[in-house]
Formats: sequence, structure tokens, C-alpha cells
Amino acid sequence: MKPITPPRVAPNERPQTYRVKSFGCQMNVYDGERMGEMLDEQGMSAASEGEDADLVVLNTCHIREKAAEKIYSDIGRLTKGKTQKKAPMIAVAGCVAQAEGEEIMKRAPAVSMVVGPQAYHRLPDMLDKAVKGERATDTDMPAIAKFSALPVRKKRTPTAFLTVQEGCDKFCTYCVVPYTRGAEISRPFGDLISEAQGLVESGAREITLLGQNVNAWGGENEKGIAQGLDGLIRQLAKIPKLQRIRYTTSHPNDFTPGLIAAHAEVDKLMPYLHLPVQSGSDRVLKAMNRQHTAEGYLRLLEQMRAARPDIALSGDFIVGFPGETEAEFEETLSLVDEVRYAQAYSFKYSPRPGTPAATMDNQIPREVMDDRLQRLQARLNRDQLAFNAASVGKSCTVLVERKGKLPGQWLGKSPWLQSVWFADEEWGEAELGDMVEVDVIDAGANSVQGVLRQAALT
Ligand code: SAH
Ligand code: SF4
Ligand code: F3S
Repeated sequence: MKPITPPRVAPNERPQTYRVKSFGCQMNVYDGERMGEMLDEQGMSAASEGEDADLVVLNTCHIREKAAEKIYSDIGRLTKGKTQKKAPMIAVAGCVAQAEGEEIMKRAPAVSMVVGPQAYHRLPDMLDKAVKGERATDTDMPAIAKFSALPVRKKRTPTAFLTVQEGCDKFCTYCVVPYTRGAEISRPFGDLISEAQGLVESGAREITLLGQNVNAWGGENEKGIAQGLDGLIRQLAKIPKLQRIRYTTSHPNDFTPGLIAAHAEVDKLMPYLHLPVQSGSDRVLKAMNRQHTAEGYLRLLEQMRAARPDIALSGDFIVGFPGETEAEFEETLSLVDEVRYAQAYSFKYSPRPGTPAATMDNQIPREVMDDRLQRLQARLNRDQLAFNAASVGKSCTVLVERKGKLPGQWLGKSPWLQSVWFADEEWGEAELGDMVEVDVIDAGANSVQGVLRQAALT
């Protein structure tokens, strides 16, 4: 590939506006928001929709194939003026930056800054250098230092993410996360409570606690007593204006009886659990180094359903892991039939450079993966539609998150994370962040439709 031309923005010209483009998981989105807040602190402002930005931050994800190639083509489009008229200053952040920082600097002279997910609190310093024409790479992993160096949150939306735990020690054989995000660390209890209070004061009514293995979070409360995620959730539930708490993503092996009990006892903890299983075959799970069996996973879901009978379940699946036979794939289909997920994500296996599975024998041909993915998704869609259809004729509480495209149309989420839309011309004065009661009248695979029964419960 030809090297990409340097930016046309003159050095010494301090960028005034920025755009952060996040491509990854919710934690990547959270990081993107925090980078934006830091740039705000530097006196910059977010470029509005359709407006050229002086600085573009590509906040990358490394989990899928072609992640790196995509970045080079994005950089190419930015510098050739295909994305915006004037070439911006470019920063590459996120998990590809962590994994391939040096390479990006070499291959793309247009990039001024490369910053890993654990080092972005140093973005302002890097920006100072970049303005002077010095390119900088920072892919250090200084554990928890990042969070205390970030500005106070100012986000004003009804729903907010809060990263409580980062990194992963599980080393599933297909996954890059332990390499791009580093070892598991938990943010301190007190910091999380104050960040949550700040978010609620500025308008958040729902907080989703984030971590690669969020249920491995551990800390000490203000009295020095050891707490698990359930302890943190119980404390957060005491914040009066906070209405809803969610958490994602969990690992089956980090579930505790306390967290299961919290689902039965804490009203603000929503009846929804995203618990990836990846495969229904014990042989494949072992080769993936998941360290749990299909049976163990199903037993855990049984316990969750006993604690919270209406819980909506979600999962992640990988089809075509090296060596997966047709019979093993069918075990995944059987597991799906048994669980009946309300929602799920499914992926074709993608060999990630540097992971053990990438060099395993018996890589599965693409056509076989395509076929398996299609068959799996047909079942998952069937169940998702059935779950939504079962809501018709019932009422549910909706947290209003945004206006729809048509006048009087509103969008929000049910407790089970279904997207709910409803129309109400009269109720034009509503505030985003209101909790309303809606009667569900129709259901599709991806959303349900309702009519307003009672406005503003809070
Ligand atoms: N920490 C979470 C999520 C990790 S990434 C967990 O342990 O479940 C999100 C999902 O991406 C994974 O659950 C997995 O289904 C998928 N994934 C990760 N690496 C992958 C790969 N190499 N190929 C295909 N899917 C992958
Ligand atoms: Fe990746 Fe496994 Fe860790 Fe999840 S638990 S982030 S899939 S290594
Ligand atoms: Fe992607 Fe990194 Fe998240 S690889 S899924 S952005 S942790």
C-alpha cells in the first residue's frame, strides 16, 4: 500500500473543532465520550453534523476482521477530502491503536497521534506536541491513572455508560481484548459513586455499568468492607433520581450468589442479562478456553430465572471456531432452543493476529461459517420476535430517550431493553428522561410499538 499523504492542516494551527468516531463496544463508546469531554476542556468544541472537524479521532476496535485496513481507508478518505473538504489533524485511538500503534505511525504519515485505550488521558499533552508538528504515540498501560486524570463528567442524556472495570484476564483463545485492554482492574467504589452522582445530577436516569468482565468488579466501600458488583449496585440504587441500573458484559464464571440475589431484591436493577456463551459444545468451549460448560451456563441461567422470573436473556455466539463440526454447531442450536433468548449477537469466527486460535488447525471454510451463521440467526430472530410479541397487550414503563422522526413520536426502552416507540401529539411538552407507562400494541423483531397510558411517572 502507498503511504498516505500528510495532512494539509498547517502545523501551529490549533484545532478548534473535533469529531470522535467510535467503532467498538460500549466501553469504546464510553472512552470516545470521555475523549470528547477532554477536548472540550481544551477549549475545543464538537463539530456539528455535516460540518468539517479540525481534529478527527478514530476510536478503533480490533475485535473483527479488517479493522486495521478500515482505518487506513478512513485516513485515506479524510486526507483526500472525500469525507470532508479540508484534511483534518488525525488521531488514532482505541484497540487497534494499542495493538498496531507503531505500524500505523509508519504507514500513515497523516496521523499525528496514536493513543491506546489506557493512555487517552494524556491526549491534551499529545495535542500540544502535534500542534508543534511532533507526532506522538502513547500505548502505555498505566493501570488506573487514566480515570483520576479525566475531567468531571458533563454528559446530559437520560442514559449514560459508566466504566467500572477494565481489561480481561480470561484469555479466551480467539480474543484480542486481554492484549489490547490489559489486565483486569476495578475502579474504586468511591470514585464510581461520585461519577454516578454527577451523571444523575446532570440528567441521567439510567446508568449502565461497563466492563469486559463487569461482574468481576471488586472494591471496598467507604467503611473498608469488601464489595462485589452487587454491593456497588445496591449503593447506586440509593441515589434517589437514578431509576434504572444495568450492567454489561458478564462472564459466567464471575457470577456470585450476591449478584443473583440483587436481581431479586433491587427494583432498580433491570430484568435483563447479557451473558455470552459462544458455543453449546463443551469440546469447543474447552478449545476456546471459556472455562465453563454448556450445562454450567444453563444452570446459572436457571438460577437467574428463579431470582427474577421475567428476566430477558441475551448472549454472544461465535460460529465456525477452528475444528467446530456440524454436530458441535448443532449443540449451539440446541442450547438456543433451550434458552430462548430475548436478544443476541452472533459472529463468524475471525482469526485475530497474535491469539492462539488464529494458528489452530482446521480453520473452517467461509461458506460453512456463512451457512452456520444464517441458521443460528434464523433461530435467534425467531426467539427475539416471539419475546417482543409476548409483550403485546401488556403495559410497561418506558424511559423516554429521544424524539422520533415524526411529530409527537417518542422513543425509549422497556425494562427488558426493548426499543419502544409511541406517538402522542398531546404530550408534546414531555421531557427526555421521563418515565412513562405505555400499552404495547404491536411488535416487530427489533422494536415494539405502544400507546401512552400515563405520562411522567416521576
Ligand atoms: N468480554 C465480553 C465480550 C468480549 S467481545 C465477553 O467475554 O463475553 C464481544 C464478543 O465478540 C464476544 O463475546 C465474542 O462473541 C465476539 N468475539 C470476540 N472475539 C472474536 C473473534 N475472534 N471472532 C469472532 N467473534 C469474536
Ligand atoms: Fe475476550 Fe474472553 Fe475476556 Fe471476554 S472473557 S474479553 S471473550 S478473553
Ligand atoms: Fe473492540 Fe476493544 Fe471493545 S477490541 S470490542 S473496542 S475492548
